Parts: sequence; C-alpha cells; structure tokens
Amino acid sequence: MKEIIRAENLTKRYDSVAALNKVSFVTHEKEIIGLVGDNGAGKSTLLNILVGLFPPDEGKIYIYGKEVKFSSPGDARKKGIEIVYQFENLVEGMNIYKNFFMGREIINRGVLNNKIMHKKSEEALEKIGIIRDSNQLVEGLSGGQRQAVALGRAFYFGKNVLLLDEPTTGLSLKEVDKTLERIRLIRENAPMSIIFVTHNLQHIMPIADRIIVLYHGEKVLDKKTEHTDIGELTKMITTRIKEEEHIDRTKYI
Ligand SMILES: Nc1ncnc2c1ncn2[C@@H]1O[C@H](COP(=O)(O)OP(=O)(O)OP(=O)(O)O)[C@@H](O)[C@H]1O
Ligand SMILES: [Mg+2]
Repeated sequence: MKEIIRAENLTKRYDSVAALNKVSFVTHEKEIIGLVGDNGAGKSTLLNILVGLFPPDEGKIYIYGKEVKFSSPGDARKKGIEIVYQFENLVEGMNIYKNFFMGREIINRGVLNNKIMHKKSEEALEKIGIIRDSNQLVEGLSGGQRQAVALGRAFYFGKNVLLLDEPTTGLSLKEVDKTLERIRLIRENAPMSIIFVTHNLQHIMPIADRIIVLYHGEKVLDKKTEHTDIGELTKMITTRIKEEEHIDRTKYI
C-alpha cells in the first residue's frame, strides 16, 4: 500500500514543556492507526498540527511524498485531511445536508444547489451504512447519530487522511459498535489513512492495523496490532522505559 503521511521529527513546545518531541511516523492507504497515550501525552497536539491549527516548531510533514506546510485548517482540508472531534459541532436548527455542506456548499451559477447537496449527502451516508433523510433537523438526532453525520461528512470531503479524536468516548456500547463498523466501511470505500485517538484499547484493538503510543510527547511504540497486546500497550502508556530500549523503539517506523 502507498504511503500517505510521512511525518519527520515533529516537535511542539509550550514554554519548557515539549508537548511533542521529535515524533516521526508514516501512514499508508487504507491503514487504520490507533494513536494512544495517557492524558497529556501529546495526541491532540499531533492531530492539531496535522489539521493545520498550528505549525510544529520543528519537523516536516509530507503527503504522498510532497512536503506540506499548513497555515490554517483550510490548507489542511485542501490536502484532503478531515477531522471528527469527540463532541462534533453540528448546527442545531439546520438539517443534515446543510450541516454536511456548511462552508463548502455546491453552488451553480451563483445559486445553492440544494437538490444535489441533499442527494450527495444521502449517498455518502448510505455508503457508511446510515440511511437517513438528509432533510431531517440535527436537533432530532442522538449523540451517536450526530457523530455518524460528522463521519459521513469527513468521508465525503476527505481524500487522504481522516483524523478521529476519541470518536467512541461517551457512546453507548451499541453506538460504539456502530461507530467502529462505520470506520471499517470508510476504509473499504476510500483509500484514506485513518488515525484514531482513544483511551480505550478495547475499542482500538479490533480495528487498528497499527498502534502508536505516545508518552510525554515521545513516540515509545509503533507496531502492527498483531505484534502487540493490551498488556504491552498498557505498560508503554503508563511507564517510562529505559533509555536504550526507548531509542530502539523510536527507530521503528
Ligand atoms: N495551549 C497549551 N498551552 C500550554 N500547554 C499545552 C497547551 N496545549 C497542550 N499543552 C500541554 O501539552 C501536552 C500535550 O497535551 P495534549 O493535549 O496534546 O495531550 P493529549 O494526549 O491529547 O491528552 P488527553 O488524553 O488528555 O486529551 C500536555 O502537557 C499539555 O498540558
Ligand atoms: Mg487530547
């Protein structure tokens, strides 16, 4: 599978604290990466850099081999990078398709093409297993359903990378299963790399091809899921390891 993201030595400091310290990794087409780590490990910092909220202090990002520099989230979007947050902000009082296309409306000869937007949003949602009337107002949807709309939107607009920041937190067991299934369907229907941030190893293990662990801003593990287990991951998430072991592990990409 082709490489999509190549990140080299990404570093971000807040005063003396390195929120990210020389983090390097690659992602491939149709690959789901589980990004885990304790509170404050640097997961959101990494996603925020990839989504163009702020640049790294040091380090480079390549997409399909070309270096990219983002000065805004709009720049990242243009490179086919989309993000779905835990509490997705959809606009109440607006229907599904208008939320779907908000800020990226389809306009023909200066006029909004509502018919096409309605159709395209329903088609995208259907591909990831959601059958819904896109005229429905968002305020009538549950948390899980709202997230499904956000996933459908990211799937529709994202070409290269889908970032998911704790997409299963706060959902019922049934909704978690549905979300995981939708993520699988996105992988089937698009060549994107998917980076899935979570605190729940049970959610990520069945779906991730690879797991990356951050510890105090450093990458301490990067392995195919079948080569690790919950015991090892828990240890890496919670304990500082010996320096020599640490150097070995960061070399693994
Ligand atoms: N705006 C900021 N100003 C100062 N320090 C910050 C800022 N944002 C993050 N940090 C620090 O950077 C480090 C990494 O934070 P980050 O939010 O990336 O962690 P995280 O892995 O997403 O944690 P969580 O699981 O709690 O969401 C932490 O030490 C945090 O306190
Ligand atoms: Mg976070």
